[in-house]
Amino acid sequence: MGDLITAIDLGTSKVCVMIAEIDEKGKTQIIGLGKSPCKGIKKGIVVDIEATTNSILEAVEQAENMADIEVEEAFINIPGGYTNLIKNKGVIAVSNEDREITMEDVKRVLNSATIVSIPQDQRIIDVVPNQYIIDGYDEIKDPIGMVGIRLEVDCDIITGSVTSVLNLVRSVNRSGIEVLGIIMEPLATSEAVLTRDEKELGVLLVDIGSGTTDLSLFKHGRLIYSNLIPVAGNHITNDISVGLRIPFKESEDIKKKHGLAYVPLAKEENVIEIKPISIDETIKVNEVNLAQIIEARISEIFELINSDIINKGIKNEILTGVVLTGGGVNYFNGIKELGSKIFGLPVRLGQPNIIGAKEPIFSTGVGLVNYGYKRKFNYYIEYNNVENKNSKHRKGFSTSKNVMNFIKKIWDEYF
Ligand SMILES: Nc1ncnc2c1ncn2[C@@H]1O[C@H](COP(=O)(O)OP(=O)(O)OP(=O)(O)O)[C@@H](O)[C@H]1O
Ligand SMILES: [Mg+2]
Repeated sequence: MGDLITAIDLGTSKVCVMIAEIDEKGKTQIIGLGKSPCKGIKKGIVVDIEATTNSILEAVEQAENMADIEVEEAFINIPGGYTNLIKNKGVIAVSNEDREITMEDVKRVLNSATIVSIPQDQRIIDVVPNQYIIDGYDEIKDPIGMVGIRLEVDCDIITGSVTSVLNLVRSVNRSGIEVLGIIMEPLATSEAVLTRDEKELGVLLVDIGSGTTDLSLFKHGRLIYSNLIPVAGNHITNDISVGLRIPFKESEDIKKKHGLAYVPLAKEENVIEIKPISIDETIKVNEVNLAQIIEARISEIFELINSDIINKGIKNEILTGVVLTGGGVNYFNGIKELGSKIFGLPVRLGQPNIIGAKEPIFSTGVGLVNYGYKRKFNYYIEYNNVENKNSKHRKGFSTSKNVMNFIKKIWDEYF
């Protein structure tokens, strides 16, 4: 039996819980999956703790039943747009007499890098090592077991706004689950959908969900830019609802069943008939009209992304192209054609390549599991949330740790 990791993807449309088993070769298998509609999160921010907690409880229960395991702790996500990235360095003297670098040294050097002044309304949520330097020799990815006197690290300190972070943590804690780490969404999602080469050469990852579009640029193996556009799949449904005068629910249904992202693919003679429950008449919708509405909104999203990366002067860093993921646009036929036309770059669709989770809506969940696995077993970060010991919601929940207590770090000293 491999290591078990649980991730909770807190999205605008759904809470998705994944329990994964990861073997020693890093192969991931999803053994528990739970998905529940969520009304408590809007654009990545908790607006209703009670509703969010209830969705989490429901999704956790489904995943637990499937895996026959009780979840005690999980990694969660925060949209890239609500986080900041600060480049920093850390340095220490190697402690061992024989100068062999241990996990303890890595913890200390990462720790030393977190001593940085951050704005009052921010808090550190993650430290991403980009390279280690041993006695001046750089580009070292894993220093453990190597020999040296001076160990340095080049890293990105990720901070998140205190309010968003605390509300996310509280919603999870109230469902009786401890937060092991809050992961910046694009860092997680990229683990599930991007290749190492893409990240090295330069790629734009675009996660279009229900409430938000998260865009991020990876180059030289690291995240160099991230932004959030508050327009996504929900807006497409809204446009259909307003444009064709049909209720939201039916709009969502016809979007999913008959939507096309590119007008040239639609046919005038294809007519969709709908009978909304609340209206006593049949509404006829022409496939071309539907495609026009969808194409217009997606074009707007793509244009916003394109102008953003042009204005920031980073478009020419993208050598491989654009990878689209999330449920917001990936299911539409014609999306790659529309994307290539607007970006003037190759576009591909990204989704996890894991049995049981091969859908673009699962990219963040699978990414959280993979990223969390790296953090939990190779690095050093763990959260310490005292509150969840008092969970009122789940009977029989115990806060005992099942794994790796030795890597625990008390973050309170920084917060
Ligand atoms: N078959 C489909 N065709 C078109 N759109 C779809 C389809 N299935 C799901 N969607 C859309 O995908 C969106 C949900 O995507 P996703 O699950 O990635 O979002 P989320 O993670 O909940 O939200 P966010 O990331 O914005 O917080 C919704 O707008 C939904 O309408
Ligand atoms: Mg999402």
